[in-house]
Amino acid sequence: MFFYPSYLLCLCLGILCVVFVSYWNAVWRGGFAWDGSGKQFNWHPVLMVTGLVVLYGNAAVVYRVPLTWGQNKTPWKLLHAGILLLALILSIVGLCAVFGNHNAQHIPNVYSLHSWIGICTVALFASQWVGGFAAFLLPCSPVEFRKLIKPTHVWMGGIILVLSIISCISGINEKLFFALKGNGNGSQPYKDLPPEALFANFLGVLIVAFGLVVLYILSNQKWQRPEPTHDGEGYRPLQCDVES
Ligand code: HEM
Repeated sequence: MFFYPSYLLCLCLGILCVVFVSYWNAVWRGGFAWDGSGKQFNWHPVLMVTGLVVLYGNAAVVYRVPLTWGQNKTPWKLLHAGILLLALILSIVGLCAVFGNHNAQHIPNVYSLHSWIGICTVALFASQWVGGFAAFLLPCSPVEFRKLIKPTHVWMGGIILVLSIISCISGINEKLFFALKGNGNGSQPYKDLPPEALFANFLGVLIVAFGLVVLYILSNQKWQRPEPTHDGEGYRPLQCDVES
């Protein structure tokens, strides 16, 4: 079956994204600290890529793994919600890193296009998580409501991934323009494509490739978890073979 090569590619690209963003910030950007300095800023790209792209993308494809289809859906729902909660926490800490750095350095907040798109993405993600939890995990949520909300939940899930990738690409580009000015401190300008720029551009390509593989997996109808045939047979809290 063609699913597993696609899934393996998704896992490998995800790991590469985390390795590349960590290496870039550890080696070229001076490493990490939590003291308001540029080293505190460096947590921002690492946590945003790890949380809002890699963990988020992996959580989105959890239900597509055919090996899980014969099993009770509840543990997979909890895993989906749990990975997404971790992704949300990492992205909030990632935002705290950049806000703390800006406040300490007296840099204005939320002025750039990157920050506008980014803040909307995190806000959408937080509301999607709360909405998903209320609709699909709370025992009092009616089956009919779950059915009604599911297409919107799935559509929003894809949109948030696309917005996360746009945020990352614009953030990487912005950082390279800020950092690689080539103004005398030994650094070459971005337009000369020094090794750091090449590496960070490649990180951007990896992030886009990861997103495309996740969206490919999500869009393939054959890889959707089959719906139960005994639909609406009465409601059982957290019993997700009844309804997603
Ligand atoms: C989903 C991913 C991302 C989101 C949601 C996001 C969101 C944000 C937000 C809301 C700010 C504004 C903070 C403030 O105004 O104090 C910001 C700043 C910044 N981010 Fe990101 N970011 C993401 C990924 C990245 C990545 C991968 C980089 C790469 C280095 C990056 C680079 C920057 C830079 C340079 C700033 C400071 C300048 C500015 O405010 O635009 N971001 N980000």
